[in-house]
Amino acid sequence: MSDQIPHLPAYDEATLDLSFAVLEEDVRVSAAAAASDPEAFRLLWLGRKQGRLKLISEAWLKSAPAEARKPLGIRFNQLKESIERVLAAPAAATGPAVPALDVTLPGLVRQPGIPHPLLTTMDRIVEVFHHLGYSTELGPQVESDFYNFEALNFPENHPARDTQDTLQIAGQASKPSRDRLLMRTHTSPVQIRTMVAQAPPLRIVIPGKVHRNDAADATHSPIFHQVEGLCVGPDITFSDLKGTLDHAMRALFGTGVKTRFFPSFFPFTEPSADVQISCIFCGGAGCRKCKHSGWIELLGCGMVDPAVFQAVTGERRRLGLDDTPYDPARVSGFAFGMGVERIAMILHGVSDIGYFYSGDMRFLEQFA
Ligand code: DAH
Repeated sequence: MSDQIPHLPAYDEATLDLSFAVLEEDVRVSAAAAASDPEAFRLLWLGRKQGRLKLISEAWLKSAPAEARKPLGIRFNQLKESIERVLAAPAAATGPAVPALDVTLPGLVRQPGIPHPLLTTMDRIVEVFHHLGYSTELGPQVESDFYNFEALNFPENHPARDTQDTLQIAGQASKPSRDRLLMRTHTSPVQIRTMVAQAPPLRIVIPGKVHRNDAADATHSPIFHQVEGLCVGPDITFSDLKGTLDHAMRALFGTGVKTRFFPSFFPFTEPSADVQISCIFCGGAGCRKCKHSGWIELLGCGMVDPAVFQAVTGERRRLGLDDTPYDPARVSGFAFGMGVERIAMILHGVSDIGYFYSGDMRFLEQFA
């Protein structure tokens, strides 16, 4: 606070408001001392000869144009009241005003967070496989062409790549094609990463986010989630694959559910299969959800193609690692991959994939 008389640059309302706000603040600050020495505070502001209020009012009023006298006068009276309030109750005037507690207002409800239904579904799937001795592996979402395609037996320019609607990272043209970066289109590259890093036997599940250049509609989203599985050992057969997935589907959807396997194609499995479960809504009788077929298609799977083991062997050799453990003559394996959104939609009867990403509390609260 300055003891000098502040300069009043103009007489318009805004300037008056600002100048008096500064004075009110000066009152508030000097009021801190008023509790111990009210007389000094009174002299400072209301002293008859040298009091600030008198000096300022003289300085400001003298040169005021006629129409500014009234607004100035009103503000001087308000300032004077503030000073008198401090003198009446010096201790109360120092802090900012504390609003009274209004006990009639509604209380603040603290909403506890809950896991998102997609995460819960992903955890449930992963847990089924943990009980079968699988461990979890994770990989990056920005992936190289080698891991996402080449090592999985998608040759360069092969039409099978077109099915994956790949989002490429910009500025990669100068790199060798195997090193070009892209957003992973599936969790399968983590199969390769794990086999390059670990010798068999192997039982892993790979939950994660994947990206495709897909238009969003009721069943598609450009970003979605998968759970991948891989089992490699000396004597892994198609019966092991069937038994494992049959168990997993009953663990997820109930013991009454049946599975059936249809021939399919994936570059990295041979033979490949699509797995269907009996419709959990109608028990297989036929309804709208299963398009009156009694079956719902759920995942892709198959026996690991020897070309994949060869790619892993080549990469291990390139990195100076033992290149013998994934000799297709010594090991075999199966793999599978499923969409988390699709399973969550079936489990919870959700009709549009967009609800999962909308952040609409009316939707999410149903999972609390
Ligand atoms: N990666 C496949 C996809 O995104 C899904 C898949 C199919 C994964 C068969 C597998 C598999 O491991 O064996 O379309």
